[in-house]
Amino acid sequence: MEGVPLEGEGAALDVALDGQLARLLQEGDLPARSGAVTPVYTLGKLPAKRLLVVGLGKPEGLDFVRLREAAGRAAKEARKLGARKVAIVAPHERAAMLPPERAAHAVAEGFCLGAYRYRGFRKNSEPDVSWEAVSVVVNVDAEAWEAGLRKGAAYASGTVLARELTNLPGNVLTPDALAQKATELAERHGLTYEVLDAEAIAKLGMGGIVAVGKGSAQPPTFTVIRYQGRPEWADVTAYIGKGVTFDTGGICLKPRENMHEMIGDMGGAAAVLGALDAVAALKLPVNLLALIPAAENSPSGTAFKPGDVITMLDGRTVEIRNTDAEGRLLLADAVTYARRQGAKRIVDVATLTGGVIVALGDEVTGLIANDDAWADEVLAAGQDAGELLWRLPNFPHYYEKLKSPVADLNNAPGRKAHPIMGGLFVGAFAEDTPWAHLDIAGTSWADQAGPLHEKGATGAGVRTLVALAERLARSGGEAE
Ligand code: BES
Ligand code: ZN
Ligand code: MN
Repeated sequence: MEGVPLEGEGAALDVALDGQLARLLQEGDLPARSGAVTPVYTLGKLPAKRLLVVGLGKPEGLDFVRLREAAGRAAKEARKLGARKVAIVAPHERAAMLPPERAAHAVAEGFCLGAYRYRGFRKNSEPDVSWEAVSVVVNVDAEAWEAGLRKGAAYASGTVLARELTNLPGNVLTPDALAQKATELAERHGLTYEVLDAEAIAKLGMGGIVAVGKGSAQPPTFTVIRYQGRPEWADVTAYIGKGVTFDTGGICLKPRENMHEMIGDMGGAAAVLGALDAVAALKLPVNLLALIPAAENSPSGTAFKPGDVITMLDGRTVEIRNTDAEGRLLLADAVTYARRQGAKRIVDVATLTGGVIVALGDEVTGLIANDDAWADEVLAAGQDAGELLWRLPNFPHYYEKLKSPVADLNNAPGRKAHPIMGGLFVGAFAEDTPWAHLDIAGTSWADQAGPLHEKGATGAGVRTLVALAERLARSGGEAE
C-alpha cells in the first residue's frame, strides 16, 4: 500500500527489521485492511520469531469495536501458529482517535475473547496451547493503558466464564450444578449468597419455578447473590438470568433437530454470573442483587401440562398454553422476588424466544422495557460495551393479549409478536419498578465462528451488564 507511512512503533520495528516492513508495504504485501493479519519473519533481528502485522483500516474509522476485532483476529492467528509468548505493540498512533484507556480496553478484551476456545470432554484431547505470557508494549500513557488493559481483561474473563458455563452439557450443568457454580463464584469474591432448594422454592410459593421444574428428575434451584459495592445496602439493581439448564420444551416437546443447542438455555444466568465476576474484579461501587432461577424443562408423568393453571409468587394465576414458554415463568417469579427485596430497577437476561432471532438475527439482542429512561440507560450500556441491542415496542395493547379466560394471565398467546409477548409477560410482574429485558436467544449462541468467538456460546450480555454497572457506579445509582 503505497503512501502509507510507517509511524511510531511501526517505524521502530521497521528499523529493527532493516526496512523490511516499508518494503512489504510498498509492494502491497502488508494489507492495512481492517482485520488483515500478516505474519512477517524476523530472521533473528527481533527476539520474536514472527511479527504479526495487524491491519486497522482507515484511521478515521478506527473505533473501539474495530480495534477489538483486530485484536481478536490477531489472537486467533497467534493461537493457530502455536505462539506461547506474545508481545502486543500498542497501536498508539493509529488508536489516537480513541482515549488511551478505551484503546487498551479494546485490545485486551479483543485478544482474550479471540483466544478463547472451549475444551470439551474428549478422552485424549491435546494439551491446550495456553499462553505463557501476553504482554503489551507501551511508550506513552502507560497508566491509562494499564487501567484499560485491566478493565478489558475483566470484561473478557467474565465473558469467558459465561461461555464456559453455557457450553456445558445439560447432564453436567444441572440446576444444582449451576447453583454450585454460582456459589463458587460468590465465594471467590467474598460475596454473600443463598441457594433455595426445591422445597424452599415451593414453600415460598414460586409456582412458576415449581411448574417448570416438575417434570425433571433434577430439582430446581434459586440462587441469590448480593454484591455490595457501596457502604449502604440501598439503591439496589437486580440482575436476573434465565437458568434453564436444558429445554426439551416439556410436554410441548421441541423437534429433535437442534434440540441439543438447548444446553445453552441458561445463557442468561451465565451472563449475569459473568457480569458479576467482572463487576467484583473491578470493585465497582454499585449494589447488585443477582438472581438465578434454574430448572430443567422435561416431559414426564410429573411434568406441567398445557391447560394447567398455576399460581405465581405474586399470587396471580397463569394458564399454561405451551410448556415450551417456560423461561418467562421462572423470570416472573424472580422479578417478584427482586421487588420484594427492594430492588429499585431490574434487568433480566434470557434466551427467551426463537422469534427474536427471526426479528433481529443472531447478532442483535432484543430489548423490551417498561420505562424509557431505564431502557435508554441499558441501550447506552450496550453502546459502551460494543454489543448490539435494539428496543422492541411495549405498546399498552400488547398487555391485553396476555389475558386468559380462566386465569389472570396466559403464558403463550400465540405466534404474533412473540418475542414482545414473552418479554411483556415478565414485565407484567415488574409492575411499577423500572424493568428491562434482554432477549439473547440469538446472540448467545453462534452457528459460525467470528473474530471474537468460535462456534457455540458467545457470552452475550455480560459486557452490556458490566458497562451498565459502570454507568450506575458513575451516576451514583440515579440512572433513571
Ligand atoms: N429456549 C427457548 C427459546 C430459544 C429458541 C432459545 C432458540 C435459543 C434458540 C424458549 O424457551 C422457547 O422455547 N420459546 C418459544 C416460545 C413460544 C412457545 C411462545 C419459542 O420461541 O418458540
Ligand atoms: Zn427455553
Ligand atoms: Mn422453551
